[in-house]
Formats: sequence, C-alpha cells, structure tokens
Amino acid sequence: MKLRALAIAAFLFSTTLVSVGSGAAEAKSKMNVQPFGKTSDGQPVELYTLKNKNGVEAGIITYGGIVNFLKVPDHAGKFADVVLGYDGMDGYLQDKSYFGALIGRYGNRIAKGEYKLGGKTYNVPKNNGENSLHGGIHGFNSKLWTAHDVAGSDGHALELTYVSKAGEEGYPGTLSVKVVYTLTNSNELKIDYSATTDAETVVNLTNHSYFNLAGQGEGDILQHQLTLHADRYTPVDAGLIPIGELASVKGTPFDFQTATAMGARIAQDNDQLKLGKGYDHNWVLVAHEKGKLALAAEVYEPRSGRVLQVLTMEPGVQFYTGNFLDGTAHGKAGKVYNQRYGFCLETQHFPDSPNHPNFPSTVLKPGQHYHTTTVYKFSVKP
Ligand code: GLA
Repeated sequence: MKLRALAIAAFLFSTTLVSVGSGAAEAKSKMNVQPFGKTSDGQPVELYTLKNKNGVEAGIITYGGIVNFLKVPDHAGKFADVVLGYDGMDGYLQDKSYFGALIGRYGNRIAKGEYKLGGKTYNVPKNNGENSLHGGIHGFNSKLWTAHDVAGSDGHALELTYVSKAGEEGYPGTLSVKVVYTLTNSNELKIDYSATTDAETVVNLTNHSYFNLAGQGEGDILQHQLTLHADRYTPVDAGLIPIGELASVKGTPFDFQTATAMGARIAQDNDQLKLGKGYDHNWVLVAHEKGKLALAAEVYEPRSGRVLQVLTMEPGVQFYTGNFLDGTAHGKAGKVYNQRYGFCLETQHFPDSPNHPNFPSTVLKPGQHYHTTTVYKFSVKP
C-alpha cells in the first residue's frame, strides 16, 4: 500500500512538474523584436511586439517607451489598431503630441516652470507658454530606454529602465525608473511604474496614448461614450494650470458620471471648455485609495462595440480630446489626425501639485519606493 501511494505521489509530482514546466514555457514565449530606426544621434531603436493568446498585440518602442500600436478585436472579432502614432522614427522625432509616450519626470504642467522643495526653488524648462509641460524639453518621452523581455505567468511583459541624472531638465536627485508593460490574456495592457531617488525630488509618471476605439485615423472620437468615476475636477486658468479648487462636476459639461458622448457638450458655452479648447482637464477620482487599483473610466465606441476600461492607483486622470491635433502629423498607414481624432486618459497626480500643498503629494524621498499601476482593459459589447 505504502509503495503504491508513493508511486502515485511520484507520478502526480512528475505530471505537476511537466505541466508547470510546459505552462511556463508557453508564458515565456519570446517576444518579437525588430529594428525601428535610429534616434537623432544615431542610436538604434527597437520595436517589441507583445502578444496574448487571443491575438491581441501591443507594439512598444524603446524610444520614449512609446506604445506604437495596439491591435484589439471589435464585436465581430475584427482587429484594428486603436492608438495613434507613426510608422517610423521620423514621425516620433518631430512629434509634438506625445503619441503613446511615457511621460516624466513630471506629467502635465508645472506653473511658470518653478516650484519649491525643501526650502529651495527649482526651475524646470518652460516649453508650454510660460509653463513646463510633460517633464520639459527633453522629457522621458524622448529618451532611449533599456528593454528586457520579462515574460511571466501573467503574459508577455517588457521591462523598460531609464536613469535620469540629477539635474536633468532641472529636477534634483538621480531618479532610477522602471516601467513594465504587461499584455495579459484578459486583453489588458498593464503599466507598472516604479522609481527610486537619491535626493528629494518630484515624480508624476504617466502614459500619453491617444485612443480611437473605431481604429486609428477612422474619424473623430465625439461619438465615444465616456463614463468617468469622478465627482470633481480641477478647473484651470488660461495656461491650463489648476486654480486650486476641486469643483463639483454637477450640472456642468464635466459630469461624466453616467455614460455620455464625448462630443455631446464639448461645444457648449462654458469658460472651462473654452480655456481647454475642449476637454483638457484633470478629474478627481472618487474611488482613489493609495496603492489600490480602482476603476477610473470606461469608454464605449458604438460602431465597433469596443470597450476600454481604465483602472489606476492614481488620484486623477487627464481627459484630453486631442484639441491640438491639426491634421499636420503624418500618422500610421497614411492616416491624417485631425482635431479630436483621438482621446487620452492620462492617469496621474494632479497638474502643478508641487505648487499646491492641498493636492496629493508628488514628492519622492530617498528610501521611498514610487510604485503605481494603470491598466487599459479591452472588451466588447454586442
Ligand atoms: C496633455 C496636455 C494637453 C496637450 C497634450 C499634448 O494632454 O494637457 O494640453 O499639451 O498633452 O499635446
């Protein structure tokens, strides 16, 4: 009896080993890597393609950690690329829209390119009128990141690392940044951001993908239905800097608490919409709890049936309706991107937080570990 039990145990053990082994081998299938041109100083850029078992594909380039393409199915199973971008490096080197890019050190604006930290005043580049936008002139979107295929049981995963030297674009402290893109078998593109510093600094990392769930270049996004799980937003001044107030969305075109077409109220006679040339504002997420993933937004595109859900650990999200797109960018596959041809849901800490003590803090100190996750999850409704 004992022997038989042992034999069974040994058999079970070996089959477990085999299945674990083959499962891991499947999950660890190598990503496709291809050359994607060169940076302005001649360094090679690579394109990594992450793929899941449903045929969903995400293309990430090492320049700017940019999401170059994202192919997801519609209600009939037909795939389309749902993010805006360029076919080659020429486009990205001239880009002013931050298509698909990783943004840092500080996503969104810092008023007058100035803030105080530890009693010292720091100046960062003014690259957006009198304000600093998206980390300055040479933000993380224009850096070459080091890539490693770190596929795990969760699916294909690409780790990107970048070390931002102390003083880069005016920010103190050497910041070591790691971003992991994972494409899960549940059709999610998960982005894990981490960072550490050797001196006190400010950090606000995000991704600047422009989505069009009907397919990139397939018209404007005005019919997309948006739900934003936010009851307040941060009104802005003429330079799109928050005035400091957390205003209720109630009774305003900023109330997306129930699904509403992005274009339904965009042209209303509203001062905040005029300042933004449409929506270009930060919403305060109701379910935010530090370190926990919560549903921030849902978008539904009626023609394709595609649904995008955005989950994040961040307290805010910048909903931007591509107001500055003007048809001059030569997009992928010969597509032209006119105004409102894409929308962004940039998960973030609030704009200009270093100058607003009442906003959640963006300060990172030595010994602390910055970690935040955002998930873009795709599905369909019939
Ligand atoms: C962010 C800003 C916008 C614009 C875009 C890039 O979304 O809030 O005002 O600068 O980036 O064009």
